[in-house]
Amino acid sequence: MTIYPVPSKWAAKAKIDAARYEAMYGEAASDPDSFWRREAQRLEWMTPFTKVKNTSFDETDFGIKWFEDGALNVAANCIDRHLAERADAVAILWEGDSPGEERRITYRDLHEEVGRLANALKANGVRKGDRVTIYLPMIPEAAFAMLACARIGAIHSVVFGGFSPDALAGRIQDCDSSLVITADEGLRGGKKVPLKTNVDEALARCTSVSRVLVVKRTGGDVRMKDGRDIWYHDALRAVSADCPPEAMDAEDPLFILYTSGSTGKPKGVLHTSGGYLVWASMTHEYVFDYRPGDIFWCAADVGWVTGHTYVVYGALANGATTLMYEGVLNYPDFSRFWQIVDKYQVDIFYGAPTALRALMREGDEWVKKTSRKSLRLLGSVGEPINPEAWEWYYRVVGEERCPIVDTWWQTETGGTMMTPLPGAHALKPGAASMPMFGVKPVIVDAEGCELGGATEGNLCITDSWPGQMRTVWGDHERFFQTYFSAYPGKYFTGDGCRRDEDGYYWITGRVDDVINVSGHRMGTAEIESALVAHAKVAEAAVVGYPHDLKGQGIYAYVTLNANEVESAEVRADLVQWVRHEIGPIATPDVIHFSPGLPKTRSGKIMRRILRKIAENDVSNLGDISTLADPSVVETLIASRAVDA
Ligand code: PRX
Repeated sequence: MTIYPVPSKWAAKAKIDAARYEAMYGEAASDPDSFWRREAQRLEWMTPFTKVKNTSFDETDFGIKWFEDGALNVAANCIDRHLAERADAVAILWEGDSPGEERRITYRDLHEEVGRLANALKANGVRKGDRVTIYLPMIPEAAFAMLACARIGAIHSVVFGGFSPDALAGRIQDCDSSLVITADEGLRGGKKVPLKTNVDEALARCTSVSRVLVVKRTGGDVRMKDGRDIWYHDALRAVSADCPPEAMDAEDPLFILYTSGSTGKPKGVLHTSGGYLVWASMTHEYVFDYRPGDIFWCAADVGWVTGHTYVVYGALANGATTLMYEGVLNYPDFSRFWQIVDKYQVDIFYGAPTALRALMREGDEWVKKTSRKSLRLLGSVGEPINPEAWEWYYRVVGEERCPIVDTWWQTETGGTMMTPLPGAHALKPGAASMPMFGVKPVIVDAEGCELGGATEGNLCITDSWPGQMRTVWGDHERFFQTYFSAYPGKYFTGDGCRRDEDGYYWITGRVDDVINVSGHRMGTAEIESALVAHAKVAEAAVVGYPHDLKGQGIYAYVTLNANEVESAEVRADLVQWVRHEIGPIATPDVIHFSPGLPKTRSGKIMRRILRKIAENDVSNLGDISTLADPSVVETLIASRAVDA
């Protein structure tokens, strides 16, 4: 493996060099109060805090509070406070799905748009603490909507536009949203996404929603329901732009974002105001070595946490110019990303390994016909990056000039937890490398014993950091059970991890029943319950398997009801069914018809065996003698060749 030392230019100029990293890491660990008191000054507080950290992961006095007696407004920190110096600087650079369509929103414009929308929300009955669901494409209104909620203290829940009406309905019901903000249609790669129609279908099941604001994006024909649906532009016209920001306690909720776990329905991850914004702003500055004036492009959708923290909150808290791209990587062709980089002279590009693998497969020409000279730093997020993709990113995209920050984190962590810092750490392709300030990782074995030195096991974090989620919406007990009960006193990430002889951390992937498909996180249980909801299905078990492009693919073992016949039509129907139930991101790659599933005598499905068969690694299945019917395994192995 090649190791890339810190380039001397970076060591000399970066905000954080090796010595500074050691000093800051040390201080955050030994004296968190003083470290975070200082870092929190990056924000403007309406009421200064006196208490910094009040956290415990122990069951007896469990609780997570940061800056608890301070008050601030997140939107004011992302907008108003920049007006004095950079009102005319561009806050959001928007590139539409088709080349040539663009918008430039200055901080002054942003202030006006957000103020107006905030007043429109109020005029439509939204109050502090109410929930607002945002189901929008990647258009500036998505950021306006998030910030308008933050301005009046409403809690937003952004639902990715690729989710189905069913998935949307579940998320609206779970948090009882009173208002939904959507668009007539989305546009991705020239194709229309029927967002408003999806909302209509979802709302047939949601009684809590009394208002829907509809942004006109494509002008497509949509039905507006009298008394419920209002055009966004009409709602804004009716109100003033002057909306003073609400003073929010540091621990008041900022947003809910649903994410998949290993069991049950998706969890509403709750983030609060003060700690989250300190974490978002600090990591955005240090991880990307952000400098005022930089054009920052995080290519994630705002429907995911990466979009929340780095397209919107971290970038705008730092007064950056954040680029928002509506479209996809191959439209009109595979050069699009790099054309956008050239068009806007992007300094920092942050994307997902799955996108890089898709681009890599198309060949270097698409990249090489662009300049990319403006790029200074590259980032990767969402899933482990395979060394081959890393090398390609480094050599072809960055021309060996741009360090790559491989940032490991989770919806739950609010922002980056581990990464190499470009001026401080030599790069090892594929390694999430080193913990951020305030992050104390440990690797434990199955019994929870901490393992020292070079080792491999389950990744836990032993102490709180400001960006940590505070609860699962509506189910605090589930929060504790999910993250703090497996290894008492520690936050369990759900990830496997290796630490090498240099102390670098390497994320090896999920160790629970969560899979990561093209950087999208999914619970196998959700896909299973979608499958068994189909009239022809008796039972289903879903596992992940290695997939060249997607990182992991979805492999579904399906047992049909006794009177049903396995056929290509049924298979296609099941694939469509899952797409309809959850959304296209959950499309099964393989449906393996299985007359029986390997179960223990107590009826528990042996997923370990199913994973091995899906991976086509059947030489070492381990002990199968405890199965109720070991012959099931032979049948599955024999039929794999046919189905997979
Ligand atoms: O398994 C890890 C993987 O993505 C999971 C978190 O997914 P989500 O909550 O959707 O957030 C994704 C964006 C932050 C983690 O538990 N993951 C994320 N980043 C990396 C990663 N795995 C390896 N390397 C990474 N850089």
